[in-house]
Amino acid sequence: MSLFRRKPLADLMSDDGEHGLKRALTATNLVLLGIGAIIGAGIFVLTGTAAAQYAGPAIVLSFVLAGLGCLFAGLCYAEFASMIPIAGSAYTYGYATLGEFAAWIIGWDLILEYLFAASTVAVGWSGYFTAFMAEVGVTLPPALTGAPFSVQGTHTLVPSQICVDPATGGVAVDAVSRTAVPVADCAAGGYNIVHGILNVPAMGLIALLTVLLVIGIKESARFNNIIVYVKVAIVLLVIFFGFQYVNTANWTPFIPENTGSFGSFGWSGIVRGAGVIFFAYIGFDAVSTAAQEAKNPQRDLPIGILGSLAVCTVLYILMALVMTGVAHYSELNVPHPVFVAIEKAGPALKWLGYLVNLGAIAGLASVVLVMLMGQPRIFYSMSRDGLLPPVFGKVHPTFRTPYVSTIVTGIVAMLIAGIFPIGLLGELVSIGTLFAFVIVCAGILVLRRTQPDLVRPFRTPWVPFVPIMGILICGYMMYGLPQDTWLRLMIWMALGMAIFFFYGKRHSKLNTT
Ligand code: ALA
Repeated sequence: MSLFRRKPLADLMSDDGEHGLKRALTATNLVLLGIGAIIGAGIFVLTGTAAAQYAGPAIVLSFVLAGLGCLFAGLCYAEFASMIPIAGSAYTYGYATLGEFAAWIIGWDLILEYLFAASTVAVGWSGYFTAFMAEVGVTLPPALTGAPFSVQGTHTLVPSQICVDPATGGVAVDAVSRTAVPVADCAAGGYNIVHGILNVPAMGLIALLTVLLVIGIKESARFNNIIVYVKVAIVLLVIFFGFQYVNTANWTPFIPENTGSFGSFGWSGIVRGAGVIFFAYIGFDAVSTAAQEAKNPQRDLPIGILGSLAVCTVLYILMALVMTGVAHYSELNVPHPVFVAIEKAGPALKWLGYLVNLGAIAGLASVVLVMLMGQPRIFYSMSRDGLLPPVFGKVHPTFRTPYVSTIVTGIVAMLIAGIFPIGLLGELVSIGTLFAFVIVCAGILVLRRTQPDLVRPFRTPWVPFVPIMGILICGYMMYGLPQDTWLRLMIWMALGMAIFFFYGKRHSKLNTT
């Protein structure tokens, strides 16, 4: 039975006062943290591929579908966050409702979301950064901007090979599509092949942001605020100017006919597209990990979670309309689709193209920042419950940040970002996050039944409709992800269970109470 022992809410809520984390964040900070975590690689990179391969202009509907799943999950997060404003997010909610074992499983699963997302987006950032540097005349050595491995087929890791232009010393780039030249065409084009060694820019970004996060939550939030203003301004410019160049012929047919296989256009393409661009929405839940640093968490966490989600959903739908309206969806199968769409508009918008790249560089950096902020706070809560060693719960005496877990997170995220290719990481992040969303929705159903009288400053409306729909939509998006991803999730979970039985269960604080 002890696997199902729950932590009493009163214990969860005990505070460390002056020695704990510093309460410095306002409602505005929280909304901006959410936006900081949300707008990133998803909209700037994945939208194009998803439109070109799966949904066509109806990628707009994929955004609506994935947004609905997130809205339902977000409403459930908001109830928990206002009721149990503790740094551990879904891990803590699980501890209060489903028991210790389930809590550990969620906590372990959240590593897939936060730590792996930080690495994934840092790799995406490195690609944009390297291209930007090349544009301003600084060529970074390809071997030091690429991972040593790449993925062959669906899951085999092989040594990476990069086509290098002997004239510039940089990665060979196709002049028309602006994508890297495939290795098969390397010799024919007179290019050299080199092997990747480490993705140094991705590692450098994580190192810098880790230092910032150790120094202070307020400083980190301020840095995030500036970036968010820049990236939202650029997204708004793209929407405003882009709309003037829309060719409505590009929107017909809005839902291209299915080609005969599931997921290739038609309605099934919309669903598959939603599974892919779900990644773009990840991050609003990161707001809940800052619960112990919010000034007025019970009121402000729901504002932060739902406010950031609402703003980004509207921006995404408008962006998707503009991108598929200015360019034909078949032209968007590139790593920088927003830039390509703007380029299509002609020379009049050339200035905006540069800003888009800048927006992506700034935007992706803030995603990495907030993900690197979320992870240590979950470790912090797990350590205080005894499920991880006490050192993870150490708070810096001056900066009042969970500095040990922040540094550990930073080092692990750096290693992953330096060594692994982006494709392998992204789908793991999505499945891990969807799994957490499903459990949070289920948790609301459980807690409404087991403890109906608890004070709930924010109540999820329309229970049980909302949590059940959240479970169904997020579960369906999980179902749509490739089998390999499921296998990796199971291996990860098996590893987590082993650690729980060898360490967590024996050291749990609940053993002594
Ligand atoms: N939503 C974040 C992004 O798209 C993870 O980069």
